[in-house]
Amino acid sequence: MSINWFPGHMHKARKEIAKVMDEIDVVIEVLDARLPVSSENPMISQLGKGTPVIKLLNKSDLADPVRTQEWVDYYNSLPDTRAIMIDYKQKKLISSIPNLCNELVPSRSNNGRQVRAMIMGIPNVGKSTMINALLGKKIAKVGNEPAVTKGQKRFLLKNGMALSDTPGMLWPKIEDRDSGYRLAASGAIKNTAIEFQQVAEYAAEFLCQDYPELMVARYKLKKIPENADELLKEIGRKRGGLRAGGKIDMHKASEILLNELRGGQIGLVTYETVSEWLEKWEQQRIE
Ligand code: G4P
Repeated sequence: MSINWFPGHMHKARKEIAKVMDEIDVVIEVLDARLPVSSENPMISQLGKGTPVIKLLNKSDLADPVRTQEWVDYYNSLPDTRAIMIDYKQKKLISSIPNLCNELVPSRSNNGRQVRAMIMGIPNVGKSTMINALLGKKIAKVGNEPAVTKGQKRFLLKNGMALSDTPGMLWPKIEDRDSGYRLAASGAIKNTAIEFQQVAEYAAEFLCQDYPELMVARYKLKKIPENADELLKEIGRKRGGLRAGGKIDMHKASEILLNELRGGQIGLVTYETVSEWLEKWEQQRIE
């Protein structure tokens, strides 16, 4: 799997985060609700050990609410962890985040010292949008390319809480094959080294297995497609047009599926479940 971050940047980010972590009372970790594990950066939990964390399962407007609730319950069962499902339109919920931070570190907020929070997450999970909503104004976005040096930014919120942005870029660390495809399929990573059509095939296979009824409804299918190939061919036949000689344009079909999946037109979809990951983690522990 060649979606990865560069060792040099990883090293730099680790150093920068380790430097500021001591001064942080609470970490606000932004995750993509559609793929909570694949959209995390393991360094956050490694370096933030012992620091309370609020996990924001963001973009929940695109995610399967049943699966998101399972993730929220799972994370809330972990020590020093609070999780909420959220999206950028939920202004009231966003404005309650500073109070949640105070609740997680009561000793800090009670002795008069301002609570210091750091917002962290991989690119495109919605950190800047979240910071803008918390501040009530638009701040300039620093590029997400790994080559761009990102100085740390600090903001003061209305309730007196100090909020800092992640220093350095936190790319997802992809060791798991599924994670790479899920990040690509969801659009969390747009330009990847994985073939576009391969991503579409992965997405189609997943949709046939986990959300066949959404496929039938969206593409007005007569029956549940048996596999990715059948689904993509149906989409091509109905929507992508046929090439000369009646050949189905599979690239066009792939494009339609991925665009509609990423944009939420297909419906509310979540790629990973708690039970799947508990099993994987148990397997890794045994090995
Ligand atoms: P980042 O700082 O973590 O890199 O992410 P950023 O806030 O820039 O958000 C990345 C993209 O995700 C943006 O879309 C943003 O609008 C979208 N986004 C953020 N939060 C949510 C959410 O809760 N739900 C949905 N559906 N989308 C969300 P974009 O197309 O890249 O930019 P824009 O044209 O919308 O500005």
